[in-house]
Amino acid sequence: MYQFIRPLLFSLSPECSHHLTLKGLSLLNKVGLGSAPEIQANEAVTVMGIKFPNRVGLAAGLDKNADTLDGLAAMGFGFVEVGTVTPLPQAGNPLPRLFRLTEQNAIINRMGFNNKGVDYLVEQVKKSKANCIIGINIGKNKDTTAEDAAEDYLICLRKAYAHADYITINISSPNTPGLRDLQYGDELTALLSCLKAEQKDLAKQYDRYVPLTVKVAPDLDDEAIKQIAQTLLDTEIDGLIATNTTLSREAVQNSPHADEQGGLSGQPLTKKSTEVIAKFSQHLQGKVPIIGVGGIASAADAQDKLVAGAALVQVYSALIYQGQGLVTKIRQGIS
Ligand SMILES: Cc1cc2nc3c(=O)[nH]c(=O)nc-3n(C[C@H](O)[C@H](O)[C@H](O)COP(=O)(O)O)c2cc1C
Repeated sequence: MYQFIRPLLFSLSPECSHHLTLKGLSLLNKVGLGSAPEIQANEAVTVMGIKFPNRVGLAAGLDKNADTLDGLAAMGFGFVEVGTVTPLPQAGNPLPRLFRLTEQNAIINRMGFNNKGVDYLVEQVKKSKANCIIGINIGKNKDTTAEDAAEDYLICLRKAYAHADYITINISSPNTPGLRDLQYGDELTALLSCLKAEQKDLAKQYDRYVPLTVKVAPDLDDEAIKQIAQTLLDTEIDGLIATNTTLSREAVQNSPHADEQGGLSGQPLTKKSTEVIAKFSQHLQGKVPIIGVGGIASAADAQDKLVAGAALVQVYSALIYQGQGLVTKIRQGIS
């Protein structure tokens, strides 16, 4: 069906078609028309102590406020990651902030964590009847200084903990000034140590262990990858999500939108993110599971990520280009 709707959606501004699609999904789900093929028992996999119905998830950023959780879950995802959410609501960057690079099957975005705040998101998750694993992706408000960043993550962690199956610490969005600096050295160790300490307290309080994953950028050199991997091992982080969008424009130099600021996702990112996954996998030696994301547009792309060392995969941009059929195609094509 998506091939008929896509021309209409692509005739609208990217952000307008984004809102329309999410609204449509919710509606389809409410009237019982949004269901994907049944998930088979042999698709299930246990990662971070969680039983995922299948390996294919929705990456963060599409449903920032968990408004469409049920509709998205009905598309056949094994897990849906909502957010990024921040302690306080914020508007994000001025429009336009989302660009289609249609020829390259890519997207550039500089949304800037537009979201309704963690309290709103938690209420939406509580209302949801989604029968998939739910990840909540947390970040910091734009106005929060680097020194106070940990406090923002702590606020979100405490509020989201009881309602998530896993929680992602997003330190890799290129659209919040200074956020990616948290990926390095002592700052990373300090942030992850304090969040792990809080996780320990929360696990006692709720009598439930909710794993913490860290989401990294693809724009990391070999030394940075080695150091981040070591910090993940030292702080006993439960999982790694690799990767977020890239600042590189190497693969899209001829696109009319190539000069737009923001993170590039989709096909131009496929190879780069797979390489980053392979490098992390070498250092992590299976001790920290990896969720692979970045330019997955087919079962073969997903399989490449699994071969590189990922235990699970996520999609975003290719869903905009291909629609729901992509999820089923990947689920049926991976082994
Ligand atoms: C419009 C848009 C918004 C995004 N927002 C977020 C976000 O809020 N938090 C996050 O961790 N990643 C965000 N991402 C990154 C995706 O989750 C994913 O890591 C990235 O797009 C690479 O996957 P893809 O090539 O399949 O899109 C966003 C991506 C896009 C295209």
